[in-house]
Amino acid sequence: MLLLHLHPLSFLIFFFSIFPISYSIPFIVIHGIGNQCSFPTVKLLTEELIACSGVQGFCVEIGNGAWDSFFMPLHEQADVVCQKVKEMKELKGGYNIVGFSQGNLIGRGVVEFCEGGPPVKNFISLAGPHAGTASVPLCGTNVFCKLADNLIKGEVYSTHIQEHSSLGGYLKLPNAIPKYLENCRFLPKLNNEKPSQRNSTYKKRFSSLENLVLIMFEQDATLIPKETSWFGYYPDGFFEPILPPQETKLYTEDWIGLKALDEAGRVHFISIPGYHLEIFEADIKKHVVPYLNGQIS
Ligand SMILES: *[C@@H]1O[C@H](CO)[C@@H](O)[C@H](O)[C@H]1NC(C)=O
Repeated sequence: MLLLHLHPLSFLIFFFSIFPISYSIPFIVIHGIGNQCSFPTVKLLTEELIACSGVQGFCVEIGNGAWDSFFMPLHEQADVVCQKVKEMKELKGGYNIVGFSQGNLIGRGVVEFCEGGPPVKNFISLAGPHAGTASVPLCGTNVFCKLADNLIKGEVYSTHIQEHSSLGGYLKLPNAIPKYLENCRFLPKLNNEKPSQRNSTYKKRFSSLENLVLIMFEQDATLIPKETSWFGYYPDGFFEPILPPQETKLYTEDWIGLKALDEAGRVHFISIPGYHLEIFEADIKKHVVPYLNGQIS
């Protein structure tokens, strides 16, 4: 008797509720400055993400790796990744991006600037300097850091540094905003900061993300201020206070669609304990994996 009342498709509905089709698309990892896909930290974290999520993941290398991560301007790095993602057959149906530190700006460059690239669904940002950084990171004594430091100590907004460093593309000194807006070649464009040159295409592309996960590390001393991981930053002209994302002009005037995304419930502001990029497996499982394996889509 009961069976007569069931819709003909009930069987299928029943079947798929027991054996859900898992919706999972691949992801790419874009590493940070001074790193490369073959270095242990990047390699291990990428493997951990693959193992925990059970989906296909690829670390996309840019040029020769660590050296180019310092000395290739970010718009060129974004072009390299744009070309690569277009050529990867696996990504045709869409993909997710996991960015580490500087890699997040390259990833956003791909989202906003890559003509004809496959669609980016979820963007998971680990310690991304999204609103810039106000100081050269204290990256230690290795040869790359010394070279980069010396380069930057010249004149950060000079043509030379803009053409020969990645950091020059997002060092945003609050006490030099006019120079930054005029000469910095990457972040002002990425964030649609120049009043006369805002491009609605970038905004449209960025605000079409399904989820934007912004992870900030509570003990991060590399990004100045660490709140840049959430698009928080200093007001123009001052080194204090640190404005929360919702009080920045980028947000209130919605230059790139962050506000629109947030109001749609698609921005997830996450704060976890740890130093810069020091993420533990429990936090990977809690905050990253659900976006990779389609538990949250
Ligand atoms: C905005 O960006 C798109 C995509 O890169 C480009 O085709 C268009 O010409 C740009 N518009 C303006 C006004 O610069």
